[in-house]
Amino acid sequence: MNRLFYLSIVLCVLLIFPLGVIAMDKKLPISRGVNLGNALEAPIEGQWGVIIKDEYFKLIKDAGFDHVRIPVRWSAHADTKPPYTIEKSFFERVDHVVNEALKNGLYVIINIHHYEEMMEKPERHKDRFLKIWEQISVHYKDYPERLWLELLNEPCHYLDSKLWNQYLKEAIAIIRKTNPARKIVVGPTDWNSVYKLKELELPKDPNLVVTFHYYNPFRFTHQGAEWVSPSPPVGTKWLGTELEKLLISGELDMAVEWSKKNNNIPLFLGEFGAYNKADMDSRVRWTSYVARSAEKRGIAWCYWEFCAGFGIYDPVSEEWRTPLLKALIPEK
Ligand code: BGC
Repeated sequence: MNRLFYLSIVLCVLLIFPLGVIAMDKKLPISRGVNLGNALEAPIEGQWGVIIKDEYFKLIKDAGFDHVRIPVRWSAHADTKPPYTIEKSFFERVDHVVNEALKNGLYVIINIHHYEEMMEKPERHKDRFLKIWEQISVHYKDYPERLWLELLNEPCHYLDSKLWNQYLKEAIAIIRKTNPARKIVVGPTDWNSVYKLKELELPKDPNLVVTFHYYNPFRFTHQGAEWVSPSPPVGTKWLGTELEKLLISGELDMAVEWSKKNNNIPLFLGEFGAYNKADMDSRVRWTSYVARSAEKRGIAWCYWEFCAGFGIYDPVSEEWRTPLLKALIPEK
């Protein structure tokens, strides 16, 4: 009896210990970041009012962020015919930005952003999408491991889960030929919705990170957003009532549950933010609640975005919007 008892204890420890080690291993080396949005994913950098300045990276690092996500519209800088060559000068510009971020000790995530044509006609664009990844992965193969690659921002419309599950596998296989262990970030369809995580099918690969975006309640975060039609009316507040909080924590819990069922794959909240047409007090409350709730659940996050319409930094006065910055990175 006694022997059986001890044996079962030993077995439990043996079972639990490796699981604990695996779970610890899976913890991401990043936690708080910011998107450098509206720059390299505009058709031409500057067209949407943002040109990334070298000094931004030191500011970001000194403020307490550990990573930046840099959306990139490669599709506007690659041939439309095979072999879909990416412009050399564009690569040089992305290299420069990535190098500046790395030099300042930040992790960097680059993606394929705003490949709109792919969302409308996925089958026609699949080959180009894969060839673009082949070029990017060869180009960055010798970069430090602090550079991460994210397959595609917000797959949506006709790029449904069935097609996306196929394409992502092929894209990962292409990247793995030259980057055997680099972190690859991948998210579900419907604009990286938590509700679509359950349809995401991933290949076995210990270096995948799963991303989702969070903008709920949408009528609050996107009030007055010119690019949304119809645009939610301005004036909705986020007061932080129990019910409002429950909605957010419930949706974040869904992501955590999904991760638990999928081998504890690490989660990355790659975008969240509230547009500047909402009142500042509500934005601060919402931003702080989402950031703290993600942290409580061990989810790394990256705020949308640095210095445009959701911005935490005013590029004209060259000052932080302190209430928003503090909502993200509270003073100790
Ligand atoms: C889009 C941006 C947009 C943001 C919030 C991003 O994924 O690329 O253009 O401002 O989501 O809607």
